[in-house]
Amino acid sequence: MAVVKVDLDRRLGVVDRKVYGMFIEHLGRCIYGGIYEPGSPLSDANGFREDVLEAAKGLQPPILRWPGGNFVSGYHWLDGVGPKEKRPIRPELAWNTVETNQFGTNEFMQYCRALDTEPYICANLGSGTMDEAAAWVEYCNGEAGTSYAALRAEHGFTHPHRVTYWGLGNEVYGDWQIGHKNAKDYAKLARQCAKVMKAMDSRIRLVLCGGQELDWDREVLGECADVVDYISYHCYWGPTPGQDPHYSTVAQPYRSEQYLGFLWELIEQVRRDRGVRHPIRIAVDEWNAWYRVHDNKLEERYDLTDALSVAVYLNMMRRNCEAIEIANLAQMVNVIAPIFTSPEGIFLQTIYHPLRLAVEKSGSVALDAHVGCATYSAEYAGIAAVPYLDALATLDEGAGKLFLSLVNLSKDERQEVEIVLQDGEVSSGVAHVVTGEGPEAVNDFGKERVTCRTHVLEAVGARFTYRMPPLTHVVVELQLT
Ligand code: AHR
Repeated sequence: MAVVKVDLDRRLGVVDRKVYGMFIEHLGRCIYGGIYEPGSPLSDANGFREDVLEAAKGLQPPILRWPGGNFVSGYHWLDGVGPKEKRPIRPELAWNTVETNQFGTNEFMQYCRALDTEPYICANLGSGTMDEAAAWVEYCNGEAGTSYAALRAEHGFTHPHRVTYWGLGNEVYGDWQIGHKNAKDYAKLARQCAKVMKAMDSRIRLVLCGGQELDWDREVLGECADVVDYISYHCYWGPTPGQDPHYSTVAQPYRSEQYLGFLWELIEQVRRDRGVRHPIRIAVDEWNAWYRVHDNKLEERYDLTDALSVAVYLNMMRRNCEAIEIANLAQMVNVIAPIFTSPEGIFLQTIYHPLRLAVEKSGSVALDAHVGCATYSAEYAGIAAVPYLDALATLDEGAGKLFLSLVNLSKDERQEVEIVLQDGEVSSGVAHVVTGEGPEAVNDFGKERVTCRTHVLEAVGARFTYRMPPLTHVVVELQLT
């Protein structure tokens, strides 16, 4: 027996829709052979795969991060603009491949328009310079009359692209990164880049590169808090060796939540100490389950356990809506992704379904629901008690709807969930259910073993019991009266 109690007045805050963002990198078949495949009968005149675009639209990403990832730390944006036949083909050193530069800044902007999403460009603070970063802002956002804005017009784009969100480098703390730096050196460069980028266009908003490590985050925030708007945080997870693969995987979002709590405290401390008036919030600009493949394609095949862990991560981020404003699932197509292509078509991976449900079936107000249920210990991950039932309540005030996003993590126990509304009445309800045959169920071309089904709930009210099978994610959508 479990209980979820909801009081419509106990609000955690407003969930920014940018937490449903996505990320595309020049890596494996994410861009080439994923979203972009000129000459394919499945592509439009721009070379965009229409089946992929359609599936991506189903996830309604409000913001799309590009071009990396590790790739960006060796990327020079000028290589990717202008006539395609003149663009250089270069060795790609982050993933040890070749970059044709056929997809560049303007193709990215066209894709964002087609997908109706906001562009978020990560600048090269690995091998790149501050002049190059400022010139990229000028190329994208310059009104007219200066050289890079004029170059954009010459390339056929007279109107500025108006890119608001810019990243100050990717994972610069890591030895694997081209141009890897220590916190002090990175902070110095980031501050200088931020200054010139904002001088070029004061409307832009900058994401400082966080390190998932408090010493790094303290140092870089200490140096740059007054010139940035966000600090990034990356999280990838998988099973803990020697532990139950399912339970250790689905425990990981709670571990991430712990760190995000520390980071949020640190941000507020630095703002107070440095007298920074503007808000600084967290951009979880890479997150996903990822543990099977570590080549230069990263074509991870996701199972039901991964889908449930993604559902918990989405609940967790929205419960922490005060701290987290942006999140980008890494990545959108083929590379550790919900959408998987072949030259002939696509299939939707298991993780597609919780992602679609989160964006489609939720309200903007996160509520502080009380959840009572059995727990298990994941001390190996620093988590004393992982609840078998994860729950997030959100309210859509306009539509008068309450959404309960529930995840039953148990492999074999069903949950009798008693749903209690402290106030208000319910006139009707439906349940959107994601499940499959066992934790290892995967999808494939023509084989949707993990999918989403909707059914009408018969007996709903201010207090009712919902029976959840094991290994299930459900969004209960309730019409309030
Ligand atoms: O998303 C795959 C890679 O993971 C990115 O390129 C990098 O930023 C991270 O380490």
